[in-house]
Amino acid sequence: MDTLTAADLQQILDEIAHAMAAEVDRGAPATYIPELAHVDPSQFGIAMALPGGQVVAAGDAATPFSIQSISKVFMLAIALGRLGDTLWQRVGREPSGAAFNSIVQLEHDKGIPRNPFINAGALAVTDAILKGHQPREVLGELLRFLREAAGDDDIHINRAVAASEQATAHRNTALAEFMAAHGNLKNPTAMTIGTYVHQCAVEMTCEQLARAGRFLAGVPGSPRMVSSARVRRINALMLTCGHYDASGDFAYRVGLPGKSGVGGGILVVAPGRASICVWSPGLNAQGNSKLGAQAMERLARATGWSVFG
Ligand code: DON
Repeated sequence: MDTLTAADLQQILDEIAHAMAAEVDRGAPATYIPELAHVDPSQFGIAMALPGGQVVAAGDAATPFSIQSISKVFMLAIALGRLGDTLWQRVGREPSGAAFNSIVQLEHDKGIPRNPFINAGALAVTDAILKGHQPREVLGELLRFLREAAGDDDIHINRAVAASEQATAHRNTALAEFMAAHGNLKNPTAMTIGTYVHQCAVEMTCEQLARAGRFLAGVPGSPRMVSSARVRRINALMLTCGHYDASGDFAYRVGLPGKSGVGGGILVVAPGRASICVWSPGLNAQGNSKLGAQAMERLARATGWSVFG
């Protein structure tokens, strides 16, 4: 199936967008971040960045949405660049099999989060990047990284979404305080949480995120943001941990590394072939985009793409 042209892929995306428009059971947008609760669940977008800079897209692929936990992938890349393997003293690399915001697991693990993509792990990563830096410097670095990776300067933080999450960040504050009790949070909790809610509140379109993920897919012509050895490791973590307690299900159904966000986006990496972003705001029980996963399952079937052969 390696003979698929951009026109073939465009047709596949159009068919998927058409099928998704007819879906009645679309899941429900996140409500625990009040600003996300009123996003229209009828929206669906999908975009694919291909070798040579070409992008194919369908549906609402040019509509900005809150990237939320997808930001954790880019923050992990920045943290590994800064700290190298010492990062792994503060966070593990095992799938959690637990909810993205689980508190009970953190107690069991003595304040060392299971992986960098659950909330506790992402807070540890953000806290590690903050060492010796101000939040605005770290957020500036994230925006520079995203803009360079996407080749697009029009990427910003939605301050209303950040403020809305910050005002209701009781659970994340509990996770951060618990890590502090174990010596695994070095900055004031409010500083780490404040930075984290702003990184999650970056807004991007499917087209921008698909382009920003090209360095992970290693598509020819993509900007080289990190070494290829590091790309392989980030992809391994996306495959095993990117969908929390639904990571095994996503690997089984789609067979490609992916990272979800509670804004309804999923960034998916088809190594050597494409970087893909799908978005639909309605979520399933694990807090991942319901139609996003369905659409990716269809895409993997139609293209035959899989990291498993
Ligand atoms: O910390 C939170 O709860 C959100 N800012 C991000 C969680 C998230 O995106 C989970 N992913 N599906």
